[in-house]
Amino acid sequence: MRPKLVAANWKMHGSRAMTAQLLGALRDRPPRCEVAVFPPFPYLAQAVELAGQAVSIGAQDVSAHAQGAYTGEVSAAMLADFGARWVLVGHSERRQYHHEDDVLVTAKLERALEQGLSPILCVGETLAERERGEAEVVLARQLATPLHLLGERAADLTIAYEPVWAIGTGRTATAAQAQDAHAFIRSQFAARDAKLSRLIRVLYGGSVKAANAADLFSQPDVDGGLVGGAALDADEFLAICAAAR
Ligand code: 13P
Repeated sequence: MRPKLVAANWKMHGSRAMTAQLLGALRDRPPRCEVAVFPPFPYLAQAVELAGQAVSIGAQDVSAHAQGAYTGEVSAAMLADFGARWVLVGHSERRQYHHEDDVLVTAKLERALEQGLSPILCVGETLAERERGEAEVVLARQLATPLHLLGERAADLTIAYEPVWAIGTGRTATAAQAQDAHAFIRSQFAARDAKLSRLIRVLYGGSVKAANAADLFSQPDVDGGLVGGAALDADEFLAICAAAR
């Protein structure tokens, strides 16, 4: 049995006041499922301080380097030092706007794992790739380098399937589309390690809302969600958490 995880990716939204308000709501009304919150870097320390027992905190990105002259970068050791538990790696917005490729993404996963952080590796196809019938090819490619280079350490990954065409568009994958993609992702692990493929958690992300969460989360291979816009509203996010049973 894989426990459900609901993760909130705030992206580049927030303020000290919003951090206090959203984490205060989660502390006052603790969700029954596992919850991880990913604020922007400047709010990490505040978020760690305010998170109750029920919530853990993560960063939206991490440097591929351990330390050194890399202006503007934040290392995995720094995140661990601030009490972060999780880190998102390879989000499509990083791949698209910062040209992150699978080798760089894998280096970031390695730095995170070295520091005992739990990385959430984000994968997903664009609309053009889906329309060309290439969704599975893209998912297989995005998983191949990390799985090959990490070997047994891949057991410590969580995967987020985030079809690019569903992110911030209001156009959610149907529960059946999500299930198909998640089963395919799991099959990529099964090819290497059958036990791991049963244990690895695969979250769905892309326009998750209270109205569609229960349908998505009821699919056998959907182990929770990575929520963007809807995570900025405490009531909406708590309703999504309540759908994760
Ligand atoms: P939305 O929920 O706003 O579509 O964002 C999804 C996402 O990218 C989470 O990482």
